[in-house]
Amino acid sequence: MTKIGTSIPRPDAHDKVTGAALYPADLIREGMLHAKAVFAHRPSARILRIDASTALAMPGVRAVLTAADVPYNRFGLIETDQPLLCEDRVRFSGDRVALVVAQTPEAAAAGASAVKVEYEDLPVLTDPRDALEPDVPRVHEDRSNVLLHQKIRKGDVDAAFASADVVIEGEFSTGWQEHAYLQPDAGIAYWDEQERLVLETAGQWLHEDRRQIAAMFEMPEERVVIRYAKIGGAFGGREDLSLPPLVALAAWKLKVPVAMQWSREESIVGHHKRHPFFITSKWAAKRDGTILAAQTRLVADGGAYASTSAEVLKCATIFATGPYEIANVATDGIVCYTNNVPSGAFRGFGAPQAHFAAESMVTRLAHALGLDPVDVRRKNLYREGSIESTGLPLPAGVGAREVFERCLEEAREVLPVPLHNGAVSPLRRGIGIACGIKNVGYSFGFPEQATATVELEVTPVSIRSANVRIGTADVGQGAHLVLRQIAAEALDLDLERVRMITDDSSEAPNAGSASASRMTLMGGRAVKDACDQARRQWLAGEEPSATVQYRPPRTTPLDLETGEGTPNYCYGYVAQAAEVEVDVRTGLVRVVRVVSVHDVGRAINRRQVEGQIEGCLAQAIGFALTENFICRDGKVLTPYLSTYLLPTALDMPEIHPVIVEGADPNGPYGARGMAEMALVPFAGAVAAAVHDATGAWVSDLPMTPERVLHAIKESTKNRLVTPAMSS
Ligand code: MOS
Repeated sequence: MTKIGTSIPRPDAHDKVTGAALYPADLIREGMLHAKAVFAHRPSARILRIDASTALAMPGVRAVLTAADVPYNRFGLIETDQPLLCEDRVRFSGDRVALVVAQTPEAAAAGASAVKVEYEDLPVLTDPRDALEPDVPRVHEDRSNVLLHQKIRKGDVDAAFASADVVIEGEFSTGWQEHAYLQPDAGIAYWDEQERLVLETAGQWLHEDRRQIAAMFEMPEERVVIRYAKIGGAFGGREDLSLPPLVALAAWKLKVPVAMQWSREESIVGHHKRHPFFITSKWAAKRDGTILAAQTRLVADGGAYASTSAEVLKCATIFATGPYEIANVATDGIVCYTNNVPSGAFRGFGAPQAHFAAESMVTRLAHALGLDPVDVRRKNLYREGSIESTGLPLPAGVGAREVFERCLEEAREVLPVPLHNGAVSPLRRGIGIACGIKNVGYSFGFPEQATATVELEVTPVSIRSANVRIGTADVGQGAHLVLRQIAAEALDLDLERVRMITDDSSEAPNAGSASASRMTLMGGRAVKDACDQARRQWLAGEEPSATVQYRPPRTTPLDLETGEGTPNYCYGYVAQAAEVEVDVRTGLVRVVRVVSVHDVGRAINRRQVEGQIEGCLAQAIGFALTENFICRDGKVLTPYLSTYLLPTALDMPEIHPVIVEGADPNGPYGARGMAEMALVPFAGAVAAAVHDATGAWVSDLPMTPERVLHAIKESTKNRLVTPAMSS
């Protein structure tokens, strides 16, 4: 085995560094028309009239398209509840009401600002907790504001609370998060010589984009071709269609090539975000540290359209107890429509929000019992054969304890014993630990498969080269190299002799989305199995090519009332230790060092695994500390990267990534996914470290300086009042 487990450099790295690589906006050519959307910029309104006459009379403007131009004006990944262009109703400020097509970007922009739309503003619903009240406005007239209420009931929490040695309560909130992928949303669309509508853009799932776009234009799927250019990040943010169907509409309608590119502001206002959550928790334990019961209520803001909200909510609901086996569990996960920006997929997919509360509760329970949080985790962490809160045993390959022990060992090496903080210094250091679990692949019975085709070029005595066809988005994570390494290994070929055909829905079969940390396991298995079969056929003197669909073990939907079911076929496990420095004068938190330990089954490309851990931690720092997305009365107040603070290189800590390899029973060469895992426990580790440094618990994300300072002041006040109760 020489092609896997080694850090083969990325074949596209040089072109990306020099600027030679072509991203979607680089495909825009002379002579194309340009499309510009008219955004509603109001969160809730009835559309009374759209007057395009002034815009149409402007130089260079070729068309103004509205809802009436879209044959089937609905799309969405799970439910089709979002209009491409609004008909009579606006539900969030980023809704699009018209599309101007013109000869230049400037003419399109001028045309868009000349489209006159008459609105009647309607009441605005902005808090998902209000959405549950009886007399609030409905975001969608024909349905309840509650998109989904998923319950889990295991054991008897009330009896457990009555018999417990300690019961604690907590309240938490988490904010929106913007994906902030560096590559701007852009695309081109045109009809080709075969009368197919071609869309060249960026996304996370070629065949799903094709399905939704074909449905909107009422075309057979074979007559729509999706091609991906180089993709500069996605993180879940390109899972939902945003810009691509708009440019497709213009080309479909006008029968000429059209280009479109969003500004950063349009992107921030126009595409979905990570779900904000409000979480209330009540947990109980025995004196020896056994967690007896966990009762959790999670209310998530789904925003104006369904997106993947139901799936994110279900993930948050099953992860409300973290990676711990607890006998008595009552969880209520609720996601509501509001007139805010839609929430959807973002790296971690509900797990980071749920874990922030769960991990904070575990550490607080330990403190309340006077025990070490390490020992309380040891006592309760999942092990092989543990029963999930959903009532059935975990899938085999439970690495929770191994990553935790490795994390403790590594932390002893690289994290100093905290300098307990000479009272004179305003800079206080502290250390926190946290654990995490996150599904790999689709959950809850959603159809899961990946298909690959392998064509061998052979001589009577050897395989000379291979074509691997697999429709997969390389969003920057390096999926194409991983799949190529797997093929090279399976066929015992040099990497250069494996040609990948990946970015065209008409040339490569459907491998599902680049999401849910699934592509290494799912795409990798499809590629490996197709290689093995093509090789067997060649050895048997048959056609040396094969198409194989890989299907993993079955999952099931959860019972809505009890949560019973088999939610997932594979989990990844992670444990982290974080050291922070808190300036108690300003509340500013700096992460100094992080140990992040991951059970990846088998690292196909070690450097890429480490790169995923590092990149994911950058987003985790944003989620935990700096990225404060503000939406007030349905209006986004942070539509610029100057006001929405992404972490930069200077905010990055010293990172110690540790790879544990407990082979996955289904993964190719034992590999499982890991790309989301570093985000899962991180905020909980930072919160515990801030507490270690200052004695204050921060329960709201992001932990801005204001919030940290406030928490420190409150905890000092409490300690002065009741010194005996400080922990
Ligand atoms: Mo993702 S958040 O599974 O693209």
